[in-house]
Amino acid sequence: MPTTPALELSALTKRYDSGLLALDRFDLEVHDGAFFGLLGPNGAGKTTLISAVCNLIRVTGGEIRIFGLDHRQPDARRMVGLAEQDVNLDRFLDVEETLLYHGGYYGMDRASARRRAGEMMDVFDLRAKAGVRAPQLSGGMRRRLLLARALMHEPRLVILDEPTAGVDFELRLELWAYIRRLHRAGATILLTTHYLEEAEELCEEIAIIRGGRLLARDTAEGLREAYEADSIADVYVKAMAS
Ligand SMILES: Nc1ncnc2c1ncn2[C@@H]1O[C@H](COP(=O)(O)OP(=O)(O)OP(=O)(O)O)[C@@H](O)[C@H]1O
Ligand SMILES: [Mg+2]
Repeated sequence: MPTTPALELSALTKRYDSGLLALDRFDLEVHDGAFFGLLGPNGAGKTTLISAVCNLIRVTGGEIRIFGLDHRQPDARRMVGLAEQDVNLDRFLDVEETLLYHGGYYGMDRASARRRAGEMMDVFDLRAKAGVRAPQLSGGMRRRLLLARALMHEPRLVILDEPTAGVDFELRLELWAYIRRLHRAGATILLTTHYLEEAEELCEEIAIIRGGRLLARDTAEGLREAYEADSIADVYVKAMAS
């Protein structure tokens, strides 16, 4: 029996107040347990799509379902964890408070939030910085905290908007390893990236979008075949030229 998709977009449309059409009747299905990459040039609509899924912007039309539920329902919201493209940490909170506040916001009781925050600080090597506020962290530490915060409430659908933008080589490998572990543990991953070798390395399924429309969507292998390409980078270049 087919399982309910982790994410289902039907005719999703977003026109900003400026009149700009950022998503144009966009359909997409991401199955439960997928490792899914959303690729596309600057301004393609990736962050708009993610913001719509996470209720950060109001959509103009269409439907968004998260594990079968309308995305506006509290139960649907709780199943999603988002690490945003812009590092948006509260500058007045230290590392541990950042995690605890997030846990509280998602309805975790204090004891579970403390336990989980401890776990997250260990996983992301932030324990020594527990009492340090965001502005005093290095850029890489802020990225790790952003990811730790997104995972605090153990979301089933983890959305990562350019999680490795601007991080050094070593941290990128660490983040890859962590995201892979998360995926193996059963989470559905939706990530955007401009590093095509990252998509090649991680993603099992990929959608390429441009101008708010879907250009291609398939498994990494299916895309390479369809475009007669040896790499996702090659697929991307060919898709953009089409
Ligand atoms: N708040 C806004 N008001 C008006 N237009 C917006 C707003 N946010 C985004 N846009 C426009 O919507 C389009 C899609 O932007 P979006 O941020 O979704 O792109 P993206 O694919 O995430 O790009 P990038 O790779 O640069 O992050 C762009 O033309 C952008 O200028
Ligand atoms: Mg973006």
